[in-house]
Formats: sequence, C-alpha cells, structure tokens
Amino acid sequence: MSDTLSPLMSADLAPIFWPPSRTGVVSAWYGHVPFSHWLVANVRPKVLVELGTHNGVSYCSFCEAVARMRLPTACYAVDTWQGDEHAGFYGEEVYNDLARFNSARYASFSELLRSTFDEALPYFADNSIDLLHIDGLHTYESVKHDFESWLPKLSNRAVLLLHDTNGRERNFGAWRLFLELKQRYPAFEFLHSYGLGVVAVGANAPDAVSALCSLDESSINAVRERFAMIGECWARESTPTSDPGRIDEHTQSIKALEEEIGSLRAELANLSGLDGALTNERVRADNLEAQLSSIKAQVGSLNSELVQLSSSLDSRLAGLLSKPGNWARYDNAYHEWKKYRKKHVERREALEKIAQMYNVRAFFLLYPLYKIINPVRKLIKSLSGKDRHPQG
Ligand SMILES: C[S@@+](CC[C@H](N)C(=O)[O-])C[C@H]1O[C@@H](n2cnc3c(N)ncnc32)[C@H](O)[C@@H]1O
Repeated sequence: MSDTLSPLMSADLAPIFWPPSRTGVVSAWYGHVPFSHWLVANVRPKVLVELGTHNGVSYCSFCEAVARMRLPTACYAVDTWQGDEHAGFYGEEVYNDLARFNSARYASFSELLRSTFDEALPYFADNSIDLLHIDGLHTYESVKHDFESWLPKLSNRAVLLLHDTNGRERNFGAWRLFLELKQRYPAFEFLHSYGLGVVAVGANAPDAVSALCSLDESSINAVRERFAMIGECWARESTPTSDPGRIDEHTQSIKALEEEIGSLRAELANLSGLDGALTNERVRADNLEAQLSSIKAQVGSLNSELVQLSSSLDSRLAGLLSKPGNWARYDNAYHEWKKYRKKHVERREALEKIAQMYNVRAFFLLYPLYKIINPVRKLIKSLSGKDRHPQG
C-alpha cells in the first residue's frame, strides 16, 4: 500500500466512523458521538461515569466504544430519570426503554444508577474515575457543584467532558465553568451541538488527549470542522424529528382530532336514542290513524243508515199527509222518527267522545251527519206548524 493512502486505512480512525448505537430518541448529543468513540478508544478508561443520561445517547456511545474495543471498562450512568428544568420532565418509559437497551447490549460492564448525583458519590472510590462526563442541570451553580463534588473521585489520568459549553440560553452556565477550568487544566472545546469541553484534569492524561489540548489555532479549527461535519450528519440521521416543535404540533393536532372524534361519538349515541324515540312516535301515529279510519267508517255507515231512514220517513209522511183523516197513524210515525233520532243522537255523542279522545275535530266527523239530519228536522218542524202539532 502506498504511503499516500495509508492514513485512510489507519485503525486509529475507525472509531470515528462507527455509527451511534442509540438512535431514534431525543438528544442534543448525537453530534459528539464520533468524537466520543474516538476518545474512549484512546483513553481506555478503567472506570467511566456519566452524570446526566436521559435517553442514553452519550452514555451508549461510550459503551459502544467499550464493547467494540473489548476494553476492561466499568461504566456507570447516574440519573434520577425524572428530568430537570432544562431537559424537561419525563415519565417512566424513558428509564424503562434505556434499561432494556442497556441490558440487551452492555449488561456485562454497564450499570444504570437511579439516584441523584450527590447520592451516588459514596459508591465511588477517590481517584478512581478515568473518564467523567457531566451533563446534568446546566446552570452555573449546578455544573460547578457537580464538578467540585466529583473532582476527588477523578484519577491522575482522568479526562472530564462537559456538555453545553457553547449554550447561551435559559440560564445555561457550563460555558462559565469551562472558562474557569481552561485556566487551570489543558482543554479543548468543540463548538457544534451546543459545545463539548474536553478537560485533561489528571496530571497524567492520555497522550492523545494531551495532544488534542495543545493544538495550534489552525489545527484546532481543522479538528473542530471535521468532527462537526461527521457529527452533524449523525444528528440529522438519528434524531426522531429534527424539529421538536413539530412533534408538539402533531401531538396537539392528534389530541384535537381525538377530542373531535369523542364529541362526534357522543352526538351519534344521542342521535341513536332520538331515532328510537322517533320510531316509537311513528308507531303511535300509525295506530292513531288506524283508529281514526275505523271511526270514519262508523260515521259513514251511520250516515247511510240515516239517509235510508230519512227517505222511508219522507215516503211514510207523504202517504200520511195524503190522507188527512188518519192523524193517529201520523202521530205514530212522528214518534217513531223521534225514537230513531234519539238513538242517532246518542250514537253521535259517543262518536264525538271518541273523536275527542283521538284529538280529532268533531266538526269534520259530524258535518255529514248534520247535513242529513237538518233537512229532516226542518221537514218535521214545518209539518208540526201546519198540523198544530207540538214540537218534539
Ligand atoms: C441534558 S440531560 C442528559 C442528556 C444526555 N447526556 C444525552 O445524551 O442526551 C440531563 C439529565 O440529568 C438529570 N439530572 C439533572 N440533575 C440531576 C441530579 N442532580 N441528579 C440526578 N440526575 C440529574 C436529568 O434527569 C436529565 O435526565
């Protein structure tokens, strides 16, 4: 192989090209994964501790390098897995998901310690940690407290990573601590993905880290630029959606749609009830109509009976009037007519009652009867006046 191409084949570069193992979860750390792989491969820490793990993107990048390099490293992630003011507060699913991922891939050398950073301190011996990553709450007071309380735990070859050294929002203060640490220890800073400070805290820091911290200006820019380029690719590739605001937007519209479906369902249930009531009313109306038809039929037969009666009376009266001497028979015919009329008046009243019951106007039912009865009455009246017969 020619000397020109051998740098491309260098095994030292391999960790930079390993893809992130933990993807598809929210994190601001994807951009630093290539450097993290490279750093672990070069530091070869005996004990590695992370303060602030959340979904585990940074922590799993350390573990992935340990696994691929088959390093004898013990890894610990410390977090309450409840969230904080800067990362936001989250539910149990975050810890459960990471715990599953961790035990499936890194169980032989990695432990998740669910506690506050301060509570975890007694579980680590002084001068024991070779690589410490601080990524908890980002106020100046918090990062300073985390650094000072864990400093005694760092070994004489320890390297410190400090995330968000380039964050200048929401009271972030890691940049301020990093400025102070730069005065005391050799350091290097990446500016992409919110910034990552690398501090050679141990007096005997690994050579690769010491070299990184003593680069000249132009080399610093070249290293920053290269890691930023490859890191940003992974950030784009691995983040579930590059715009968390859009997740919120989608969540909101899903919620609104669910609410709308809920109210439509309630409306539908209401309409089904109304539909049932309407069917009952229709059945009742059909019954009433059938009863009304039967009343009308009764009225019809009563009418025809009355018509027959009137014509027979007419002919009987005409016969009687043609024989004026037969007054007794005339009287009998008159009384017979009165009897019939009484009977029909009773039947009419009964029908009126039925009509009232079914809320039907009596007038429409009884008008045909009236039209027949009235001329007969008039005839009887005129006969009574002519023959000086008393009114019935
Ligand atoms: C910025 S997130 C960590 C991001 C993570 N390193 C990544 O790769 O995306 C900060 C985490 O620190 C945790 N945290 C903050 N202060 C803590 C404390 N005092 N003790 C334990 N956990 C803490 C929060 O629960 C949160 O999960």
